[in-house]
Amino acid sequence: LKIAVLISGGGSNLKALIDAAADPDFPAEIACVGSDTDAPGLDHARSAGIPTFVVRPRDSATREEWGAVLAAAIQEHHVGTGPDRGLVVSAGLMRILPPGFVRTFSPHLINTHPALLPEYPGAHAVRDALAAGAARTGVTVHVIDEGVDTGPVLRQAAVDVLPGETEADLHERIKQLERPLLVETVRDIALGRLALPGAA
Ligand code: GRF
Repeated sequence: LKIAVLISGGGSNLKALIDAAADPDFPAEIACVGSDTDAPGLDHARSAGIPTFVVRPRDSATREEWGAVLAAAIQEHHVGTGPDRGLVVSAGLMRILPPGFVRTFSPHLINTHPALLPEYPGAHAVRDALAAGAARTGVTVHVIDEGVDTGPVLRQAAVDVLPGETEADLHERIKQLERPLLVETVRDIALGRLALPGAA
């Protein structure tokens, strides 16, 4: 299964996927890594010899146009074009994907979110959970639909919130669950063990 990974930051989830895919028995290969910015995490892909591309929103007149340029870059690497439809994995992309992009790839389009959706959607999930005094939070891997963090949930993992811990500490503890959860979700999709809701 060819996958495209989309990032905006450090890419530790991307790195986990790259490390997993280094095993020839892993049923997915990372065909490309894209970003909306010159994300530091792109270096993980470069070091692994994986093609990368940056599609900047400011270079497009509208969000829909940005989405179309991003979709074309992904399809140039033969993701989303074959009979198996491939898989687009948003792992720390800090942009909302526009409806046209979602319609092109979903449900072969998943996201990982650092909260137990539907709790704490949006770009500040870890901060919001702490601010709400949550005793427990976690991570959700879900199909991206045309809403924000609203698509069908595929996998979740929970973590207790420790008293007084910082947002950075909690986020890193969430990521310790998130990285293997994302790898296993991609593996299960690639092996056909996990059906993507709405997939033909
Ligand atoms: C992840 O926790 C992801 O859920 C959130 O942003 C974080 C990206 O972390 N959307 P990294 O860049 O993979 O380290």
